[in-house]
Amino acid sequence: MQGSNDTFAAVDGALHCEGVSLATIAETVGTPVYVYSTAMFRQQARTFRDGLKDAGRVHLAFAIKANPNLAVLRVLAQEGYGADVVSGGEMQRALAAGIAPADIVFSGVGKTRRELTAALDAGIGQFNLELEEEGEVLAAIAHARGQRAPATLRINPDVDAGTHAKISTGRRENKFGVPIDQAVEMYGRLAELDGLSMRGVAIHIGSQLFDLAPLEGAYERVGELVAELRRFGHFISRIDLGGGLGVHYKAGDVPPSAAEYGDMVARVTQDWDVELMFEPGRVLTANAGVLLTEVIWVKPGAVNPYVIVDAAMNDLARPALYDAWHDFVAVHPSGNRMTANIAGPVCESGDTFAMGRDIDLVSSGDLAVFRSAGAYGATMASTYNSRALVPEVLVDGDRYAVVADRIQPETILAAERVPDWLKA
Ligand code: LLP
Repeated sequence: MQGSNDTFAAVDGALHCEGVSLATIAETVGTPVYVYSTAMFRQQARTFRDGLKDAGRVHLAFAIKANPNLAVLRVLAQEGYGADVVSGGEMQRALAAGIAPADIVFSGVGKTRRELTAALDAGIGQFNLELEEEGEVLAAIAHARGQRAPATLRINPDVDAGTHAKISTGRRENKFGVPIDQAVEMYGRLAELDGLSMRGVAIHIGSQLFDLAPLEGAYERVGELVAELRRFGHFISRIDLGGGLGVHYKAGDVPPSAAEYGDMVARVTQDWDVELMFEPGRVLTANAGVLLTEVIWVKPGAVNPYVIVDAAMNDLARPALYDAWHDFVAVHPSGNRMTANIAGPVCESGDTFAMGRDIDLVSSGDLAVFRSAGAYGATMASTYNSRALVPEVLVDGDRYAVVADRIQPETILAAERVPDWLKA
């Protein structure tokens, strides 16, 4: 949400995050580094919640895959958000952040038996089942321990969410959920199992959604399913409507507002008489983060110069993976512009953030940021090309703290071994 409430703004010609100059962070922590704004996390968390004020009983679970940093989870937990997790590792993080087990939802198409058991140990609030066999296995494990696992069945409504194919999840051919036309019978069989306590259904059709119509269509199908399940005598108390709301990345982007989304939800679900659950990820965090980087070189190119920055596809994978756009803004803009390609040092042509982009004029040694990098940024980082794992900084007013260290190549190297037979 860039605009009047933007917490990344220029103060005396220098880009700040809240009250801290990005140049100060670059100087003390180095680059590349992710920088997050606490105020923006809170603002987005409240805006999303306010948008749903007419939607009745609501449970909010942050999809922590978007930004699982422990400090970020603390901020969102303080804002009353539980967690949507998709692995044992994410569950550990949610618990470490102080999120109550009852407020944790376990999603994901490949939960292992070990993960299911750990989640039962922790006493998490809900399992979103992705296939019948998962429900049978979970029921057996829970029953053997004298437990009943609270669960929903994730359905695949076969709708095209109108987003990038790699982040679309609600079409028949996608790996997620069970076909909606098989849901009633499957639900009936699962509801019979001693180790399960079936509560309702879950849905999530994709991410970075700009059009509410496919979502509304999917939610309507859920409503019909709920009515049918109730006709069969099933007790339905929770419906998980997933995440997916899109955000602003570039000029001209007009994502649906939280209020527009909430109005649609309230309209479609008004007669459902359930607790509605939501799993927002990107909308809470994307515009609360930037990736701060330094220009290494400006290299002449065949058509446009290449601005080579010290951040790369291993730090921010979205452009390479989804051709995603992240605004590039100088920390000390001179007012002059240039047309350039922006690329990182990694040895792949795909390590390119932008081609032929109109940007602030920069030269070697200048600082700049990639904006809207607070979701699916640091969490998707790797150490490819034996680069360091990128650190994260959280700003709160005039103070800031390193909330994830830079993991140096030597630390990664120390975890590797040469077997004896290769030592001679
Ligand atoms: N719930 C489920 C079951 C999900 O699979 C996801 C995202 C969410 C909630 C949160 O969706 P959101 O509100 O953030 O759209 N790496 C990609 C996005 C992958 C999304 C995966 N699932 C990207 O950078 O665009």
